[in-house]
Amino acid sequence: MEMKFRAVPREVYDVMGLNENFNYLWNPDPVSSLIGLGSSFVLEFFEFYGERIGDYYDAYIQDPKLKDERFAVFVGQERRHAAAHRKLNNFITKSVTPPVREEFHPRVYAFMHEAYKGFAEPIIAGIERDKANGKTQDSFWFKEAVQSIAIFESEVCMTGFAFFENLFDNGRFDLVTNMSGNLGVLYLLGYHYAEEMEHCCVSIEAFETVYNEKLWTKERIDQHINQMDFLANQIVKTTQKVAGMLKQTVTTEKIINSVAFQARALAAKKYITEGFTARESEVLQKREYFVGRWDSEWAPRLLEIIKEKIDENDLASINSVV
Ligand SMILES: [Fe+2]
Ligand SMILES: [Fe+2]
Repeated sequence: MEMKFRAVPREVYDVMGLNENFNYLWNPDPVSSLIGLGSSFVLEFFEFYGERIGDYYDAYIQDPKLKDERFAVFVGQERRHAAAHRKLNNFITKSVTPPVREEFHPRVYAFMHEAYKGFAEPIIAGIERDKANGKTQDSFWFKEAVQSIAIFESEVCMTGFAFFENLFDNGRFDLVTNMSGNLGVLYLLGYHYAEEMEHCCVSIEAFETVYNEKLWTKERIDQHINQMDFLANQIVKTTQKVAGMLKQTVTTEKIINSVAFQARALAAKKYITEGFTARESEVLQKREYFVGRWDSEWAPRLLEIIKEKIDENDLASINSVV
């Protein structure tokens, strides 16, 4: 699948209502709405992490046969995702301490600090040490980093499947756009998950090519798919933090039992089996189908609806002034 850099139209942010009228219910299901907003922070955190690892990629992979030219494009998409989420994330966190620049990460929120200290920092510090010792792709830490990205990307691809299946496919597009209280957030996530499905095989293949081993072994499936892993726990924690900022409360149990969480877990269990590369014919077909429909149908139609909504709101505000 060819990777494209899609732009998020200005109207998406106009309709998002990042002001006192912000409606967090972008999804008909309230808990799934909160999970989507919590994910906005987890995704941003990982995108900066991925960008940093991307900076080492060229130096570490010196053999042209092993170097995957698509890696830079994939990291480029991630960089743009983090930028696209910034306004929304800044808005949601306006009442808490702003994110700080850490040594290896430009935007760490207090509620992501544990993830930084316990996950990102040790890996990147390890890469830095290995680099100083002249190591390249045989660096334990670099391998750990590429592996963590490939695992994350596989799982996010499954979130994309769950998202498009539940919200747009099977004739749900009209129903969901009618019920959505925030079409801007719906569009932003649609754009993001489309690109996630588009590029999810790149980091898996990069890992397997460089290290000549399968990413998805029985052990990793057990650790990441059959139980709550680091990513799943981060989503739960961040969703609860975000709920608090939006003056909502949500229990761990409700998050885990929600439509969004369960659909992702089901997709992961179904598709991420031993040797998964995101290129199995059913998976590839699904990715192509969802991305294709997003580009040709759902994104343009959603933008049209957003523009109509903006016109209606403008008219209402003119009438209220008159
Ligand atoms: Fe992304
Ligand atoms: Fe990604």
